[in-house]
Amino acid sequence: MLEQKDIILKSRLEAFVKKDGDYWSFRGKAVREHAHAYFQYPAMMVPQMQSELIGIIKDISPGIKRILDPFVGSGTTMTEAMLQNLDFTGQDINPLSYLLCRVKSGPFFLPSIVKKAQKVVGKINRLRSKKIEVEFAGMNKWFQHNIAIELSHIKRAILEEDSKWARRFFWITLAETVRLTSNCRTSTYKLHIRPRQEVESRGISAKDIFNKILFRNIDRLSKIHDMLDERKLLNRGHYKGEINICIGDTSNTIKNAHTSDLLITSPPYGDNNTTVPYGQHSYLPLQWIPPCDIISNLDGTYLNTTHEIDRRSLGGSRKNAVSKSQYLNDKSYTFQKMMNLLENKPSDCQSRLAAFCVDLDASLELIINALKPDSYMIWILGNRRIANKTILVDEIVSDLLVHKGCIRITKLQRRIPNKRSASKNKTTSTMNSESILVLRKTV
Ligand SMILES: C[S@@+](CC[C@H](N)C(=O)[O-])C[C@H]1O[C@@H](n2cnc3c(N)ncnc32)[C@H](O)[C@@H]1O
Repeated sequence: MLEQKDIILKSRLEAFVKKDGDYWSFRGKAVREHAHAYFQYPAMMVPQMQSELIGIIKDISPGIKRILDPFVGSGTTMTEAMLQNLDFTGQDINPLSYLLCRVKSGPFFLPSIVKKAQKVVGKINRLRSKKIEVEFAGMNKWFQHNIAIELSHIKRAILEEDSKWARRFFWITLAETVRLTSNCRTSTYKLHIRPRQEVESRGISAKDIFNKILFRNIDRLSKIHDMLDERKLLNRGHYKGEINICIGDTSNTIKNAHTSDLLITSPPYGDNNTTVPYGQHSYLPLQWIPPCDIISNLDGTYLNTTHEIDRRSLGGSRKNAVSKSQYLNDKSYTFQKMMNLLENKPSDCQSRLAAFCVDLDASLELIINALKPDSYMIWILGNRRIANKTILVDEIVSDLLVHKGCIRITKLQRRIPNKRSASKNKTTSTMNSESILVLRKTV
């Protein structure tokens, strides 16, 4: 049963739609500025939308203190939580996501980063060695020789910096430089090589690009610094609230049960190879970043293959998935219906959906447990296509959460403009719209 506050929340969210049916698409209003624009991560949320959703929930539940995003990605929700003076817990399977969130959460030491950046650029320009600092199987395929030498100079210069927080800021800048200078196309998230002729005629310099991104990112750091400072949310360059970020598999563990009082998250679409392969997108940048600068004691096995991070992600392992998923038929009518829809399709179609839903269901259990009783949950969910059939991931999630005792409040629809597909020349297997599903945990 909806309580009074749920009815208020529902009517506030739906009131926008009554005035403008396309309100939640944020068309023309979705811009990525300051810390949101350090690195181009796949499927990032719209900051303005997250901000508005947090604001509305804060109005209705003024006591909320900590937001949870267990699929934190580039940390869009985290930055918006910080701007609204909230504590935050984030988790992701991808080490690059972790690093990006660490950088975005501070420290915000402005004069110091400028001096350190000038020093690092000076060192890069003085280096002449031809030694390439990174070795992996696809090195020559993914990097032109001259680019690899320049990236090696950048890496060496960053390693000479003493402070880890500054090195991390530089690694994110290097990650974006790698994205723009490798031989991989930037028009897709998948590892997809540029044609040879194009590679040979590009005439780019990794050092110039690094330099440009570095000072652009410092400018962005300065903007987020000023925004936090104006709101009196900084203490000697550190965010005053508490931010916890972890690398972890959300279907397996979430630390700190019952500590968050609002969930805002967008899980992956569910097919790591053909939809949005976060791991593949991060594979080349991560080759250049020492694991111990991401987290001490992090082993480098996430780079075992180009598919390793995606294999560890939701739905990444399809072994016996269909039989493992049988129990879901009793929990979600939509799941049952979707599996039936795929019955006469190639056998991997059912196992792709089943593997994702089994992992997702395991995550839901842990996510609910990480929230305090009565917490609101906002799920931003993309439906997808398998074998040309639309798979209603949003309704599956809704069924599973309701089955676990949560109360559904509303579902809003939003369009996604300019969506980039996983691989070029292939029809995208995700949809051009997504749902904002709002529920409340009851106990
Ligand atoms: C849609 S993205 C999140 C994007 C984020 N909202 C943003 O604005 O950048 C989904 C994220 O889920 C992560 N992910 C996939 N499987 C996971 C798992 N088992 N545990 C934790 N994170 C996972 C992916 O690495 C990806 O970063």
